[in-house]
Amino acid sequence: MRRDVQVYIGRLRAMNPSSEQEPVASAIYSQDASSKVSIQITTHNAALRFTIDEHGKLFQSGFGSKGIHLTDCSEAFPTWGNGWVFEPALSVIHADGNTSTDLRVSRWSKTGQITKIELKDPEYPFFVDLLFRTIEAEDVIEVWTVLRNEEDGEVKLEAYASSALHFGDGDFWLTQFHGQFTDEAKMAEEKLGYGLKVLDSKLGVRAHQFRAPWLLLSKGGPLQEDEGEVFGGSLAWSGSFRFAFEVLPNGELQTLCGVNPFASAYKLAPGEAFETPKMIWAWSDRGAGDLSRKLHRYIRREVIRDGDEPRAVLLNNWESTYFDFDEGKIVSLFEGAREIGLDLFLLDDGWFGQKYPRNDDTQGLGDWTPDPRKLPNGIGALTRAAKEKGLRFGLWFEPEMVNPRSELFEKHPEWLIRQPKRQIELQRNQMVLDLTNPEVREFVFDVIEGTLSRNPGISYIKWDCNRYITQPGSPYLHRDMQENLQVDYVRGLYAVMEKVATSYPDVQIMMCSGGGGRVDLGAMRFAHELWPSDMTDPVRRLFIQWGFSYFMPAIAVANHVTLSGESSLKFAFDVAFSGRLGMDVDLDKLSKADREVARSAVAVYKEIRELVQLGDLYRLESPYAGPRSSLMYVKENGAVVFLYSLGDSPPACLRLKGIVPSCSYSVREINVATEGLDLNSNLSGRALIEGGLPVPALGPCESAVFHLERPVETGP
Ligand code: GLA
Repeated sequence: MRRDVQVYIGRLRAMNPSSEQEPVASAIYSQDASSKVSIQITTHNAALRFTIDEHGKLFQSGFGSKGIHLTDCSEAFPTWGNGWVFEPALSVIHADGNTSTDLRVSRWSKTGQITKIELKDPEYPFFVDLLFRTIEAEDVIEVWTVLRNEEDGEVKLEAYASSALHFGDGDFWLTQFHGQFTDEAKMAEEKLGYGLKVLDSKLGVRAHQFRAPWLLLSKGGPLQEDEGEVFGGSLAWSGSFRFAFEVLPNGELQTLCGVNPFASAYKLAPGEAFETPKMIWAWSDRGAGDLSRKLHRYIRREVIRDGDEPRAVLLNNWESTYFDFDEGKIVSLFEGAREIGLDLFLLDDGWFGQKYPRNDDTQGLGDWTPDPRKLPNGIGALTRAAKEKGLRFGLWFEPEMVNPRSELFEKHPEWLIRQPKRQIELQRNQMVLDLTNPEVREFVFDVIEGTLSRNPGISYIKWDCNRYITQPGSPYLHRDMQENLQVDYVRGLYAVMEKVATSYPDVQIMMCSGGGGRVDLGAMRFAHELWPSDMTDPVRRLFIQWGFSYFMPAIAVANHVTLSGESSLKFAFDVAFSGRLGMDVDLDKLSKADREVARSAVAVYKEIRELVQLGDLYRLESPYAGPRSSLMYVKENGAVVFLYSLGDSPPACLRLKGIVPSCSYSVREINVATEGLDLNSNLSGRALIEGGLPVPALGPCESAVFHLERPVETGP
């Protein structure tokens, strides 16, 4: 055996977990301790365990079911340059140029939900705190790191993972959610083999264009819906991220997740601390379905704003007018919205620009003054007219961006992210403002503040971001600090978002980014919902919504009915029903019959809104397996079942989940123009679970929605 491999094996299996001590609530670790100390971070069903050896080295001895102790015990948070020869969690160049770090535990403590393990390099005043926050009921652990430089000079962080977890031996299948503009969240699964697998983004300003910052890891076999051990991971960060999976030579899986350190080495001045974003890990031994339900509850309660308040049904004008509208046109949409029963109107892109009117995407971005040609009476006239019709009013912003053809660019060419000596590279004719610069942050906040304070009728914002960073240079940051840009941009963005959220607690926010580009749990802390995709053809969107459902609760996923695609209006509504419903249709142009379809669909959605938005999701049949696709939401007092057919689906029972076997349910088909399917009104939960709901043949783009009402206890 080669020597380096021996060293490595020694560090992986140095401990014998059977000699662990009982955990204590807090301890100062003494390096003279003669025995090993165990630290357990537990939720209802899962545990993450660490052990400190007699030399103060920290090892991880398990992650998974509380009942199972892994025998493997590998170095926790491995550092570069002092023995570890695989991907490190941390790589630091110290003030004196030393490229190695050695970490020993100095103390650990547990306060409420938070466990903190404090590590220090014995030779340097360089400190690393590993932090873990448990959300017990949902088997979720938030993991992050704080690094502190007390050296007498700058240190350079070359790799700085938020979480470095070992998953032990075994076979693992990794599911990623990749895609593109209008084709987001496509699921792809692969078995992890030896070596390194990386899922990442280098986009800087937003996490996702090609890959959402989420992952699923299934242990022992491919991902299953209702069985098997599965881990879900998601980084709460809107910039570049990196998830690295390395199956080490001993067969053990190591994962490193955090900000993408590629071209983003971060310089830390003496006395400065660096807090990484949180990596959220959720665990289940009952498959992806149970995992998603836990994640949904966690996200509703701990991440998004007002996660238990059902959302408004809105009308957006983007696909019906694009940039071509004026006050008269917009006001004319209000009457239809009211008739149909919608709650809120969202005015999209195109409302601003004086010198450079925003009539297309080539100009005006950055000049947030209403265009007097389109809106001679300003936004106020619209909010008042909306109010008269009983509608709330929302407005689109893309505050981090600028078109070169804009007054803002003319005034502040130094505010752009760009590389010196390079020709500016545009995407959608626009550039990113440099939010590392406090003046720019102030400008961005003032844009929103100014518009909201002048127009108190605005109660909703769509916050868009239609490009990513391709030339990462900051005119504001010192030339030696250029690589700090990727991190400092996102921190600047969060500072502005936080200020908006705290200054306007009653204004709801939708995150959008050329469709679903900013769907991370970092930005979602400041928002209520997200726009998953500009793809609104219901057939294609079904797959996108399916992908989103693994992490995002329905209440946070905005689905708008449009005229895109070939399917019927009913099918479009049924697809949009399974999240937060909205419409983006020129209601004036709908036939009388279609307006009636829409009116009745909106009324039906309002009946099931709480079930969908606050219920537990059960995925029944995947569109990937086709031709049918089905999912349902369950609450104590009922359930709603969605069934879609993408091709010819023969009659077949639909086996339901999540309902109570001992209850009987009255089942009714809803959102039907004429008579619904003739179903027995009282079906037992057991029969619906075991035998299934009998549904007839459906053709391409046909759908059905079933409402199961109020279970009545009928005994065991
Ligand atoms: C992005 C969004 C769209 C719309 C346009 C406006 O593409 O995803 O929904 O708001 O910008 O320009």
